[in-house]
Amino acid sequence: MGLGRRLCCCLQTKRLKWKQNGPRDGEEEEEKGHGESWDLIFELETLEVATDNFSEENLLGHGGFGPVYKGRLANGQEIAVKKLSVTSRQGFNEFMNEVKFLVRVQHRNLVTLLGCCAHGGDKALVYDYLPNKSLDKFLFDKMKSSSLDWSKRYDIIFGVARGLLYLHEESPLRIIHRDIKASNILLDNQLNPKISDFGLARLFAAEDTHVSTFKIAGTHGYMAPEYALHGYLSVKSDVFSYGVLVLEIASGWKNHDRRLPDESGDLLSYAWKLFRGGNVLDLVDKSLDTYDEGQAALCIQLGLLCCQANITDRPDMSTVNLILSSDSFILPKPSKPGLQGRRGYWSGTRSTLGSGTNPSSSLNPSSTSTGNSKMSNSTFMEDESRNSLSVSFTEEGR
Ligand SMILES: Nc1ncnc2c1ncn2[C@@H]1O[C@H](COP(=O)(O)OP(=O)(O)OP(=O)(O)O)[C@@H](O)[C@H]1O
Ligand SMILES: [Mg+2]
Repeated sequence: MGLGRRLCCCLQTKRLKWKQNGPRDGEEEEEKGHGESWDLIFELETLEVATDNFSEENLLGHGGFGPVYKGRLANGQEIAVKKLSVTSRQGFNEFMNEVKFLVRVQHRNLVTLLGCCAHGGDKALVYDYLPNKSLDKFLFDKMKSSSLDWSKRYDIIFGVARGLLYLHEESPLRIIHRDIKASNILLDNQLNPKISDFGLARLFAAEDTHVSTFKIAGTHGYMAPEYALHGYLSVKSDVFSYGVLVLEIASGWKNHDRRLPDESGDLLSYAWKLFRGGNVLDLVDKSLDTYDEGQAALCIQLGLLCCQANITDRPDMSTVNLILSSDSFILPKPSKPGLQGRRGYWSGTRSTLGSGTNPSSSLNPSSTSTGNSKMSNSTFMEDESRNSLSVSFTEEGR
């Protein structure tokens, strides 16, 4: 099916759902905002005018997909335009994936896709512009991190948990995001978090506990070990990434940093060491003058629990939300966290769905029923294309 048709199918799904169920809260206004035709397809010319021909001054950042530009539409609305770079390895499938998912989910802690553009070789995704950009820009910048006080950090930790719970359990689709990390958490003008980048997201059926895949995709430092090493993908892979993120938010350290006061340079190992020694609050970001000690200790323990090596020891997102909303939740003691996934990707073939609860059944890739997708037929490759830190998927579907 051609790109135009596939895009139209995606976009029509949303219209059809409205016809059947009526728009959800807020959608009617959104529809009016888009005018009578509610057209989500942007002309390339409109985006060129909005971004001043994709000028350097409007460049917001650059990710694995391509450059991101700030723009302003004729009606004054500010937008962010993510342009698919010709050299992007993530390319077309990621583009389609993002459209497919984002037009069908809506939540205050998810970024809003306004539309897309597919004009010959030029492809772009158009989002609401979020003036505070992404969380990494605050958290890892010593000048800016102090402006993120503890209560804001807690709100962000909670907001991301709500967004993930929606994706895993509450949205019309069951979605594993696969790329939860600080640069994929955008902040609105009140620093409310919005999960972005659904290019790697995967659907799963409610009855399936996991997907076994050879398309390992995500970012180094945030990937759950069973997924990075064995292709065992479940909602608990997102929980692991969320745990790493929580520790980053509480500490202001990146998950790997040679300057960490721990010879491993690894945030998880350092957090675990402090926890075991009863000095967990030593992890809290030194740029914070004051903070709620009880909340900070809880968040660090929760982060460690989310990063447990054993999948069943990690809480699911509804438990995480319960913990964060409760005043008196006694958390279980974490064990040593799992090692984060390594850098690189496997280029393999198909994936399978599973409903067993024991990941070990699919930990050996050659034991899964993936046709010819045996380990011996797969290749492991280093990939520096995603901010030199991450792992990318190959050209095929996922
Ligand atoms: N809607 C938006 N509003 C404001 N800034 C944005 C928006 N979307 C992206 N950005 C900025 O553009 C930068 C690049 O985003 P992008 O998602 O392409 O890359 P990344 O998250 O750094 O890497 P990756 O490709 O691995 O996700 C972000 O770090 C963010 O600062
Ligand atoms: Mg991103």
